Amino acid sequence: MPFSRRRLIAAAAVLPIAAPTQALAQRGGRQPPPENTPPPLPRDDFERNAFEVLADIHKNQRFLNVSRDDGRLLRIWADLANTKKAIELGTSTGYSAIWIALALRRTGGRLTTFEIDRERAATAAANFKRAGVDGLIDIVVGDAHKDVGKVTGAVDFVFSDADKDGYLTYFRALAPKLRTGGVFISDNMAIPEPDPAYVRAITTDPDYETVFFNMHRTGVAVTHKRA
Ligand SMILES: C[S@@+](CC[C@H](N)C(=O)[O-])C[C@H]1O[C@@H](n2cnc3c(N)ncnc32)[C@H](O)[C@@H]1O
Repeated sequence: MPFSRRRLIAAAAVLPIAAPTQALAQRGGRQPPPENTPPPLPRDDFERNAFEVLADIHKNQRFLNVSRDDGRLLRIWADLANTKKAIELGTSTGYSAIWIALALRRTGGRLTTFEIDRERAATAAANFKRAGVDGLIDIVVGDAHKDVGKVTGAVDFVFSDADKDGYLTYFRALAPKLRTGGVFISDNMAIPEPDPAYVRAITTDPDYETVFFNMHRTGVAVTHKRA
């Protein structure tokens, strides 16, 4: 049995991780279903252009990006948290960052996004420019484990989507900086298997309320800091 599977099963005996394990069991190799909501409607020419860029990234520059629906949820959550400071771990080609930045246009916030791959970071930077959101985003190129400690001040919104084994480290580094009422969102809570220690960290502390979404797809955890 591969180590990661053993680790998950051992942890399942003591941890409240029913949602991820059920999703793993039920998925049974099925393809994720297609997007199930109607397409987003642009309110102005700025959004129309940004949506075209987002569609182009998905079609031509896809690298492990979130789905369109999950991108839209990121925008909604960043907006609801009235985000002034957003952090993203794992930029890839910039798809999720553009969705987050679309919320920051209204909230007056900024996003710092971390990417270890220089080429993907350059692609993301070009995409931010053509989507018109480059003025709202700072890209930090390098290993986020080294750089995330340099984040200063209160954070309203985190999207964790870099190396999956690093989720717990990122949470421990950023959760103390998250303001009460802020959200810490993590992708890949169903596929690939989540780190049980991370799942435990976000589900066993009463100061944080976590709900799992879209577990029939990659799985997203939304963790709300309550105190
Ligand atoms: C799943 S992709 C991110 C997708 C992106 N959030 C989106 O939806 O458009 C993960 C990215 O994290 C980057 N990554 C992996 N380990 C990293 C690390 N230690 N520091 C910074 N970035 C890392 C990878 O190079 C990859 O581009």
